[in-house]
Amino acid sequence: MSPTRDGGLFLTLEGIDGAGKSSHLDALEARFKAQGRTVVRTREPGGTPLAETLRALVLEQPMTPLTESLLVFAARCEHIAQVIEPALARGEVVLCDRFTDATFAYQGAGRGFDTAVLSTLEQWVQAGRAGLPAAQLLQPQFTLWFDLAPEIAAQRLAGARVPDKFEAQPVEFFRRVAQGYADRATADASRFVRIDASQARDQVWQQIDTALVARGVLSQVQGAAQ
Ligand code: TMP
Repeated sequence: MSPTRDGGLFLTLEGIDGAGKSSHLDALEARFKAQGRTVVRTREPGGTPLAETLRALVLEQPMTPLTESLLVFAARCEHIAQVIEPALARGEVVLCDRFTDATFAYQGAGRGFDTAVLSTLEQWVQAGRAGLPAAQLLQPQFTLWFDLAPEIAAQRLAGARVPDKFEAQPVEFFRRVAQGYADRATADASRFVRIDASQARDQVWQQIDTALVARGVLSQVQGAAQ
């Protein structure tokens, strides 16, 4: 786990497209605010005007996996400097829809791009940030990983909206991405919180709430069932 100064909390949501992670952001934000926390809600690629411009390129334009990786890390560099670091320094909660795990899952596992290059970019962009020692990477304290079979995610996505470049990928691509997430979760088991995203939406929310209470990130709602 990566400590941050002054009680800031860096929480990310991850999973393949169609896993339903973003639909819980409103509830998460409200839950933290009800406990008196200030919440910065953001996403990757994106979160600053320049990073959102890079997002549009990454999601719509054909490009090599190296270009894709450079652009998502360029966007991340701006996002960390302008949004994430300042919010953590103020002791706020940063709720971020995707972060570097997505790069290892999509560009690394999905595209088959060299993960050693990704690790180098990660070092450049995330080492020694937010008041951390020079060798330490800025990482989320916890990552909610919405785990869902790619076939079910594809059914959920079908017809939902005009697919972007990634959403239009075949199910085999998402099998590799899902495996990439599973490998990341195994390698960093104390950071990853696996959420069974195949369940109904309110059961998924219960899993999130219970997991965050168990880790001391949220306190139990008064009067809630034990
Ligand atoms: P979203 O649809 O959840 O907002 O994510 C945007 C898309 O960008 C999603 O298909 C995953 C992809 N992506 C990458 O390929 N690499 C990354 O590093 C990030 C953050 C997202």
